[in-house]
Formats: sequence, structure tokens, C-alpha cells
Amino acid sequence: MTQDLSIVTFGDEAQPARRQTLVDLLRACPIPDNELPMNLGLFLTPQTLSRVLFMDFLYRQVSEVQGVVVELGCRWGQNASLFTALRGIHEPFNRLRKVVAFDTFTGFPSVDEKDGAQMKPGGYAVTENYADYLAAILDVQEKESPHAHLKKYDIVQGDVGDTLPAYFDAHPETVVALAYFDLDLYRPTVDALRAIEGRLTRGSVIGFDEVNDPATPGETVALIEAFGLSRYALRRFPPSARTSYIVID
Ligand SMILES: C[S@@+](CC[C@H](N)C(=O)[O-])C[C@H]1O[C@@H](n2cnc3c(N)ncnc32)[C@H](O)[C@@H]1O
Repeated sequence: MTQDLSIVTFGDEAQPARRQTLVDLLRACPIPDNELPMNLGLFLTPQTLSRVLFMDFLYRQVSEVQGVVVELGCRWGQNASLFTALRGIHEPFNRLRKVVAFDTFTGFPSVDEKDGAQMKPGGYAVTENYADYLAAILDVQEKESPHAHLKKYDIVQGDVGDTLPAYFDAHPETVVALAYFDLDLYRPTVDALRAIEGRLTRGSVIGFDEVNDPATPGETVALIEAFGLSRYALRRFPPSARTSYIVID
């Protein structure tokens, strides 16, 4: 049976065809293998580049904050890979700045009525054994920076309602400097915010992928329930349309 890997998007009608043209050009790329990794910027669009810039913006804010970087809902793992590369750029010798990526790797386990009509169980699944592929990418990323002999990432598979508290139990030293929330759903977001709260310090940053987005109301409801909206300023990084962040102070 073919896996359904479809996602919800918000572009104009012509966007899928435009994106397909870019994909066709990528697959037909004449650039030799040894130069391809240096030229992937050819395929970044304003939307995709703005997300990369946002991850850099968040990462730079925690360079003086002790702790690890976590992503809740990593899916294909692009952000985990970016955070690994950003560590190599901004603080190549920080062996304590682990990158920890959480996901079921089988999509949404369930959906709450607070999540609205567009979210469906099984949404945002990935291909089989994807966590192994992501580990291979992160291994290469780590080897591109100093301290390559030290593994500084974890990929944690399962429902974050269980895996995040279990991770903190198994790694009691963990402080969270930066957490990126992209679970899209109410239940895992509220569970993870509550689990993470005691691991934050002043200056820790939490990024949110879809607060205030009517397509994914559950993330906002979870933030309101766990932290409220008046405790921290909910800020935007202007080049990135949908995302926001708070700084713990
Ligand atoms: C929109 S995708 C994340 C996209 C990714 N952060 C990116 O930037 O490309 C949402 C992810 O949340 C994950 N997810 C949702 N509920 C989860 C849960 N309870 N436990 C773990 N992962 C969950 C899904 O499997 C999916 O991969």
C-alpha cells in the first residue's frame, strides 16, 4: 500500500506546479556530485529560506544560555540538521549543546477536537525507517565540525507525551536552552510544554511554528493553557510568516 504523505499547504493554485518545476530541476541537476552540497541554495525559495533564517535567529539568541536544543515534531529533521550545522558555525566547541529531535515518525497519533477540522490522525507521517536516515544525515553533519568524535544528537521516536518526560528522567542533567514546537496539535503540545517548563532557565527560547494559525488552533490553545499569553511576550521574526517565539525571563 502506498503511504499517504500529503500535507496541508497555503499557497496559490499555481504553487504545486511551480514547486514541481523546482523539484524536476533538482532531480535533473547537472551539477557534479562533489559540488552539489555547496549549491543547494539554488533550490531555496523565499518561504524556505525564511525558515532557515528563523532557525539561525533563534539559535543565536541562546548562544549565551546553557542547555540543549530540542525540536518537538521534527518530521524529516531539517531543523535538527540546521541546528547541528548552526552549532558548527556559532559554537563549534560546545560539546554540551546537544540537538534532540522528537517525533513519532508515523505522523499524528491522534487528533483532539481542539485541533479543528484540517488535522487528521496519521497526518505528516514519513517513510519507513526514516529515523535511521536522519541519523545518517546528522552523523555527516557532526563530522563537518570540530569534536566530531563526540555524538551530540539524539533522535527520540514515540509520542512526546511519553518520550519527553522519559528523556528527562534518563538525562537528569538536561537544561533546555532552545525548544522548537512543531507538533501542530493540542494534546502533545500542552503535555510537552508542561514537561519542559521545569527544564527552562532565564533566557531559554521557545519557538512555535503555528501559534495564531486558524488551521492549527490546538497549538495556541495549548500555549494558553500551559503558560498563558500574558506571562511572556509572543514575538515574531518578520521574515518568517507563521512562526513566533517567547523568551523566558
Ligand atoms: C508539521 S510536522 C513537523 C515539521 C518539521 N518540524 C519541519 O520543520 O519540517 C509535525 C510533526 O509532529 C509530529 N507529532 C505530532 N504529534 C506527535 C506526538 N504526540 N508525538 C511525537 N510527534 C508528534 C508528527 O509526526 C509530525 O512529524
